[in-house]
Formats: sequence, C-alpha cells, structure tokens
Amino acid sequence: MTNSELLKNTIAQIFANGKGILAMDESTPTIDKRFSVNGIPQNVEMRRNYRELLATTPGLSESIGGAILYDETIRQQTSDGIAMATMLMNSGIIPGIKVDMGAKPLAGFPNEKITEGLDGLRERLVDYNSMGARFAKWRAVITIGDGIPTDACINANSHALARYAALCQEAGLVPIVEPEVLMDGNHSRQRCYDVTEQALKSLFEALYHFRVDLQSIILKPNLVMAGKDSSQKDSIADVAKATVNCFLSSVPAAVPAIAFLSGGQSPEQASQHLNAINKNYKDRLPWIVAFSFARAIQHPCLEAWKGQEAHVEKAQQLLYHRAKLSAAARRGAYKSAMEDHG
Ligand code: 13P
Repeated sequence: MTNSELLKNTIAQIFANGKGILAMDESTPTIDKRFSVNGIPQNVEMRRNYRELLATTPGLSESIGGAILYDETIRQQTSDGIAMATMLMNSGIIPGIKVDMGAKPLAGFPNEKITEGLDGLRERLVDYNSMGARFAKWRAVITIGDGIPTDACINANSHALARYAALCQEAGLVPIVEPEVLMDGNHSRQRCYDVTEQALKSLFEALYHFRVDLQSIILKPNLVMAGKDSSQKDSIADVAKATVNCFLSSVPAAVPAIAFLSGGQSPEQASQHLNAINKNYKDRLPWIVAFSFARAIQHPCLEAWKGQEAHVEKAQQLLYHRAKLSAAARRGAYKSAMEDHG
C-alpha cells in the first residue's frame, strides 16, 4: 500500500458504516477540571480508570470508528495489562493521538492564542505511529470578541495547522485539522459565519501552499451558531442552513470528511444539529458529515461514573447510548424520542 492509500484507508475505516470519532484526548488540566466538577479525585490512576472505562465500553465500536487519545493515555495499559491503543484496535476502533502542545497566548495580540507543538513533531509522530496511532489531532483556537480575531492570529494558526498536517501525512498518520471558532461570547450567528468562513479559507490556502493532500485529511470544525451569551436564539434549522452554506463556500469537495466538535453544546443539541445537516442537505454535501465529540458523548457518562467502580456499568451504558445517537445523527436518522432509552 502506498502512503496515500494507507491514509485513505484509515479514513474509510474510521467512518465506515455511519460511524464517527470519540474525542477522549482531554489534556490533564482539562480532564482534571471535569473530574473536579464531578467530585472525582484528580490523579493519574483515576484518569487511567476513566479512560479504560471509555475504551472498554461494550458495543462502542458499533458507532465509534476512531478514538483520540492523549499522550498520557496512549502510554497506559488497561487493568488487564493491555496497551490502551491495542485494546481499542482489538475492539475495532482506530486509535488516534492529540499531538499539539496546547493553545498559548499569542505575543502582541491580547486575548488571542496560537497553538504550539511543531518543534520535534516529526520524531514524536514516529513514536506515536509505533505505539499504534493511525491518525492525529491538532486544535487551533479562534476567539471572537471586540476587534478579534485578527488576520495575524487566523493566519498564524493556519500556517501551524498546515505544517502539522504535512508532517502527519509524511509519517503515515491522517491529520485531523481543527480550526475551532469558540462559542464563547455574545456574537451573532452571522459574525460566527464570517469568522468561520475566513478561518476555513485561510486554512485551505495554507494547506495548499504546504502541499497537503486534501483527500487525506479530516476537517474538525465548529458549527455556525450565535455565541453562548448571545440573546439571539438560533433554531436547529437556522444552524444547519448557515453551517452548510458556510462550508459549501469554503471547504473543497476533495476533503473526504468533516467531523464536528461539540464545543459546549448539550449532547441533545449536538445530535439535533448534526442530524438536521445530514437529513436536510444530504444531496448537496460532497463530504461525509460526521462527529468527533468529546463533551457531547462523554458528559452523561462522566456524571454517572463519579469515580466509583459500582457505577462503571451504568456509565458505560450512557456512553454507548450517546455514541449511538451521534451515529444516528450522522445518518440523519436521529429522533428526540430516542433520548428516552438511555
Ligand atoms: P468537544 O466536543 O467537547 O468540543 O471536544 C472536541 C475536541 O476534541 C476539541 O478538540
């Protein structure tokens, strides 16, 4: 198999039979924050227990074709002594890895961020490949506010995403390219549309300049919707329409798959939006439109677990259910009545 065939094959396996991606790659500070909200002790063993709970959920591979791990997790083993990546692979889920080193303040640009992690990335990708990872993730963060985002922030993040993507393809890993326009703020849906369109156009220009094969990437974007604190109330149909229009104007048809992040929407909202896009616009979409949710799949599971062994089975049932509803939304077959059978 050529490198290019290998990458396309990985993408086909991840999204086979209507499946999507489970993001379980929260950095240690992020997962500790989620643990703390749920009264769960924040230490390496609890993080391992939780990730094992997720990875060993019975039937998860019916809806999940790929799972993104964090550096700490890919180096850990299940309680039976099996490497976490091997465990996933054995159950039919392709392991991926978050490789960026986080979004840091962009010098000279108050309230804006640049994602770091390019130095030494070529060597790290070789290591991750040998640990079983077949795809990678890099998240850029774009904030909407007074006078921001600036062109400098958008373009610097596109440049980093493109250099990361080229290195991944060289190493035989599919790059998930994630330019996340945050939901934080009181901006309108139109403002989110404009910023998302600019970020995507800048991203695809950079990917072109850095000779990234667009047919061997996965795009992980935000939906086009009003900010969390906006007084504008978006309908499901409004969000689906704006998102489809924005993406048709800015994402080349060569891209095989778009996998949305959930970004702080409730699990139900995330399913409803994805479903409306697939149900109402299927004939116009040149890409697979799927999900790469963290919070919108994990939230009910984490709340139920509470860090206690006695709750593992219930927590796994909730994870299975949320993954199944996300996959139904990918097929445009989600119905709110399905929420009751968790
Ligand atoms: P959320 O679905 O919680 O936004 O997380 C997705 C993700 O992995 C962001 O990089």
